[in-house]
Amino acid sequence: MRVVWATDIHLNFLGVEGRNVFFSSIRGQQPDAVLVTGDIAEAPSLTYLLHEMRQAIQVPLYFVLGNHDFYYGSISQVRKNLKHWCESQPGLIYLSTTKLIELNPTTGLVGHDGWGDGRYGNYHLSPVRLSDQELIADFQGLDREAVLAKLRALGDEAAGYLRDRLDEALESYQRVICLTHVPPFKEACWYQGKMGSDDWLPYFAGRAVGEVLLNVSRERPDRHIIVLCGHTHHAGIVHLRPNLRVITGSAEYGTPCIQDTFDLDELFTQSILVGGRKGRGRPSVETDVSERQP
Ligand SMILES: [Fe+2]
Ligand SMILES: [Fe+2]
Repeated sequence: MRVVWATDIHLNFLGVEGRNVFFSSIRGQQPDAVLVTGDIAEAPSLTYLLHEMRQAIQVPLYFVLGNHDFYYGSISQVRKNLKHWCESQPGLIYLSTTKLIELNPTTGLVGHDGWGDGRYGNYHLSPVRLSDQELIADFQGLDREAVLAKLRALGDEAAGYLRDRLDEALESYQRVICLTHVPPFKEACWYQGKMGSDDWLPYFAGRAVGEVLLNVSRERPDRHIIVLCGHTHHAGIVHLRPNLRVITGSAEYGTPCIQDTFDLDELFTQSILVGGRKGRGRPSVETDVSERQP
């Protein structure tokens, strides 16, 4: 099975011509399925652009949402509307609201949007304020402590959902791909080849999801998990445990790219390149911290 992975494609920043160039680059890879790890558009344009992309690529599109997908909307409303809408859209699969997916007899697919849950870095000392707090209804009017409580709750919700899906997937499949927008470990929160700073980590990594991933990978050493994520727009790969690898994709506003095209078996047996194999030539950074994980 041949799969294309893209992340942070921000289609709302492109005109129709730019979108068509991107969609035809995907078609050119002749994939059987496309995976997208969030920041697809913004709430008002999300269904229109998802529908357009699905029509153009002609294969199933499995996706999670990123923080930008909730801009000018509310998180619960966007999720609810999209779940309902996808039920009548063959080949558009929103992983945060669906059952476990079988990609092939040995590989399952799970996913959830995730959220930067304020648990890494130093939330209270950070001067960073994301646009999320002005543009997503759930955060509007909240004071600093209430924002932190909301970030934690969103991280916990993602972690609870993924715990259930991963348990189910690891029961039946030797290999599991997990899509999430927000890197679930600080080590996977790349910025220019290094880990993001304490100012950014509260918003750019989701610790609760990471703990679930560590737990399930310890409980099932016979299974392999690969996490694909984005959000930081900077690429890198981290090996957390011998059976747990997190690949973060890169992005630039206005020029969406394919992170990689891979055969499912190849993904689990080789390092893949990130940052756009076809032409961008960005180096991919890779690190192994598996010995640090008890
Ligand atoms: Fe993004
Ligand atoms: Fe994002």
